[in-house]
Amino acid sequence: MSKPTFAMLCCACGAEQVVKSEMAEKGWRLAFSRPGFVTAKNDSDVSLPEGIFVRTASRSIGQVRGTDATRMVEELAVQLAEHDPNRRSFDQLHVWPKDRVPIGRFGFEPGVDEVSKVVADEVYAGLRETWVKCDAPNRIAQPGERVLDLVLVEPSHWFLGTHEADVWPTRWPGAVQPVQPVEEPVSRAYYKAAESITWSGFDMKPGDVAVEIGSAPGGACGRLLELGMRVIGIDPAEMDPRINEHPNFQHIRARGGDLPRRQFRNAKWLLVDSNVRPDQTLTTIENIVTHRQSDFVGLLITLKIGEYRAAPLIEKWFQRIVGWKPQQVHVRQLARNKCEVCFAVTMKSA
Ligand SMILES: C[S@@+](CC[C@H](N)C(=O)[O-])C[C@H]1O[C@@H](n2cnc3c(N)ncnc32)[C@H](O)[C@@H]1O
Repeated sequence: MSKPTFAMLCCACGAEQVVKSEMAEKGWRLAFSRPGFVTAKNDSDVSLPEGIFVRTASRSIGQVRGTDATRMVEELAVQLAEHDPNRRSFDQLHVWPKDRVPIGRFGFEPGVDEVSKVVADEVYAGLRETWVKCDAPNRIAQPGERVLDLVLVEPSHWFLGTHEADVWPTRWPGAVQPVQPVEEPVSRAYYKAAESITWSGFDMKPGDVAVEIGSAPGGACGRLLELGMRVIGIDPAEMDPRINEHPNFQHIRARGGDLPRRQFRNAKWLLVDSNVRPDQTLTTIENIVTHRQSDFVGLLITLKIGEYRAAPLIEKWFQRIVGWKPQQVHVRQLARNKCEVCFAVTMKSA
């Protein structure tokens, strides 16, 4: 008989219902869950669940509760030894909290916070001689490295698991990209754009022309400019002066759908982040990218779902994008996405 698989997953608060139904359809039996955190069992030895709304996925090893961190770390070591009598050590240690509330509510942002930093240091100090070989906790993992994951469901309730690092989000602690902005970003869209660019793998280079539809106030444009690109921002609203005055930035004060298509000549990259209904947004983009003069290499499109119940619409949007004959389409709820998803569309080779 094959070994069962225990999985623990993190997602945005509100997305757990979508994650759960997708898992149940694939034969997973749901177990403990909280907003932003789902565990499940599969009777066979299977790979970890994937999905648009699955932010992190780990093979579950155990859990500890308590108020004394030293004791809790000792208990983790006991569980690790039971799990693997060969005591094979891990390359990295990632420690992060599950999301408390939906992203953006009360200014909430996902990822490592002050409490999890303290816990990470404590756990690292307790396990470094025996179970982890990295030089500090919460380092970015290299592809192929084995990561020991600790999710704080509460400060006094920790879930232990493991995963192997592979694509970018699996390399970041809690799948949240660590970004150090050069200057204070104009808006949180700076982080969202940074994450979408890295996740997509798009080979954006200094001097490339990037267009953003829905560019005000300019967080995302700030990231593109920081990467040395020439940026055209399209938005009827005003840009932040820090962006507007940048020599590599041009603002076109218009709606995305109202522009003559020659405005997009020579542009390689298109970002779209307008608060417009997805179908209308897709019509605007379709008119641009299916035009014979269009020369776009890659598109990063944010579409607002509105509410998680509407998640089945994503498949329809996906098929519509496939109709533009791209080379590749990926879709994911990024860690920095509110109730929205990001499509990375490769139109042709760079
Ligand atoms: C979420 S904000 C964009 C944030 C921006 N990407 C940033 O980095 O700061 C949405 C923007 O879409 C703009 N917008 C709404 N309808 C639009 C349209 N038809 N064309 C272009 N922009 C539009 C709004 O004016 C608003 O500034």
